Amino acid sequence: MSKTSKKCRRCKGLHECVCQTVDASQCTMPPPTPPAGPNDSSGGYPTTGYPGGGPYRIYDPPMPVIAPISGGIFPGKMIFISGVLNPNAARFTINFMCGPYDGSDIALHCDVRLRFGSDVNVFVRNSLLGGGWGGEERPCPYFPFVPNGSFDMIILAEKDKFKIAVNNQHLVEYGHRLQPLKKIDTMKIMGDVRINQIRFQ
Ligand code: GAL
Repeated sequence: MSKTSKKCRRCKGLHECVCQTVDASQCTMPPPTPPAGPNDSSGGYPTTGYPGGGPYRIYDPPMPVIAPISGGIFPGKMIFISGVLNPNAARFTINFMCGPYDGSDIALHCDVRLRFGSDVNVFVRNSLLGGGWGGEERPCPYFPFVPNGSFDMIILAEKDKFKIAVNNQHLVEYGHRLQPLKKIDTMKIMGDVRINQIRFQ
């Protein structure tokens, strides 16, 4: 099979596709390499894709974002989020949920608080299970978010925990409180942020 100048939808034109089709389901190419890919210094985040769910991207989604996680979460699943905080950002939240509804269990609640109540520049992690919040995890080696500032976040699921990196540096881990992971099928982002791209890989 020779190379073609056509780019299939899966490859998104990021590399020349040999599948000679614009039908993404026919594409035999590996998923595109992440542009700002993690490396060894970011805590062992892999750079290749994983089976199940299949990679896909969302560009410039309106807020709030409610995105299905096709195939659910499993060890090796990575979610890349690129965004920019609003100029007067006070807070934004990323939830990994079992279903899209208010009241659905939240396996991982990432709450970025620049100013919220008495919190200034605090990154809160927690879970909402059966309608009740668990204990907050607050320790964080640094706070990488500023109003008007852009960020790249990677959430990597491992067997026993999530690992979260921001701007290619490992930030925190969060041990799983909800299993099985495949029940986590929805991501929701809300608050004072604009999202440029989400990549599920
Ligand atoms: C509460 C807040 C919730 C959630 C929770 C996390 O104070 O109202 O939205 O962030 O903390 O523990």
